[in-house]
Amino acid sequence: MEQTQAPARKQRILSGIQPSGTPTLGNYIGAMRNWKLLEDEYDCLYMIADLHAITVRQEPAKLRAQSIQLLALLLAIGLAPEKNVLFFQSHVRQHAEMGWLLNCFTYMGEMSRMTQFKDKSAKHADNINCGLFTYPVLMAGDILLYQANLVPVGQDQTQHLEICRDIANRVNGLYPGVFTVPQGYYPKVGARVMSLQDPTRKMSKSDPDDCFIGILDTPDAVRRKVRRAVTDSDAQIRFDPENKPGVSNLLSILSALTGEDVHAIAESMSGKGYGDLKNAVAEACVETLTPIQDRFNQYMSDKAYLESVYRTGAERAGKMAERTLSKLMKKIGFIAR
Ligand code: TYM
Repeated sequence: MEQTQAPARKQRILSGIQPSGTPTLGNYIGAMRNWKLLEDEYDCLYMIADLHAITVRQEPAKLRAQSIQLLALLLAIGLAPEKNVLFFQSHVRQHAEMGWLLNCFTYMGEMSRMTQFKDKSAKHADNINCGLFTYPVLMAGDILLYQANLVPVGQDQTQHLEICRDIANRVNGLYPGVFTVPQGYYPKVGARVMSLQDPTRKMSKSDPDDCFIGILDTPDAVRRKVRRAVTDSDAQIRFDPENKPGVSNLLSILSALTGEDVHAIAESMSGKGYGDLKNAVAEACVETLTPIQDRFNQYMSDKAYLESVYRTGAERAGKMAERTLSKLMKKIGFIAR
């Protein structure tokens, strides 16, 4: 008799993005673009991390608008809801529950070493809340709930990924086999897109508007911001992040968007001026962003469709998350619900 073999389960991916502020070219190049590239090879879940966003004060109407816009944007970059589970973190209650459980397996010392906590508490000195402190624990739960193998993120999330692995190993040490220990997945080019105004810092959606290119920026805004980007005074196009951070950042952006090697671009532009480099960067951005914006506008005009996507997503994610949550709760010793 012919034996049918069950197809091997694809490896699983989970990643997320916060609905705080306008998504930037850094988010796109560092993370979102890769999500699209991975959708066929992996079993993917992508989450709008709204629970994470409230570690900083949010205006309710703005948070709602930014959340739904982010969902439309995920669709606009081409993520198919049939292939990817797209959902709002707050719609899957297991995230908050898992966050609590994992808090009890995480040490204060570990959290106080997190650079994002140090940065954000300096920036929001009037609101250093406990959520900000335990943010990485909630994030670890996001990943571990789905038994994710890979987590495609930008470089700024490295420390969070490491602590997630530490927590997973610790819990597995007590209760063997509860969690898959995940790995970070970083892009070769553009894992850290830098600010246009201070190219020694990462491009961030919480910085002033002229520091970043927003995925939804108009072509005019993109050209203006790139034209004003900080470079240096020696007028030589060379890839040298240490000594020429501004120019190197522009070269990296161009490389990430065109797929051409960064050194090859630098060579082909040697002898040209910074104005030429900036024009090339601005046009590459406009060319990438315009079709995304067109699709974004179409999705935003169909609220019923967006709702069907996030409802289905939460339902699918919830089932998967519940399996892991109840497994851990049983091992800890809670009475089954
Ligand atoms: P967030 O919302 O800050 O950023 C979303 C993704 O964009 C990447 N990114 C960048 N990549 C390159 N250059 C930049 N300048 C740049 N800025 C942002 C980030 O690395 C990230 O991949 N904690 C996460 C959200 C989150 C999450 C998760 C991610 C919550 N739970 C579980 C993965 C898995 C965050 O704040 O991302």
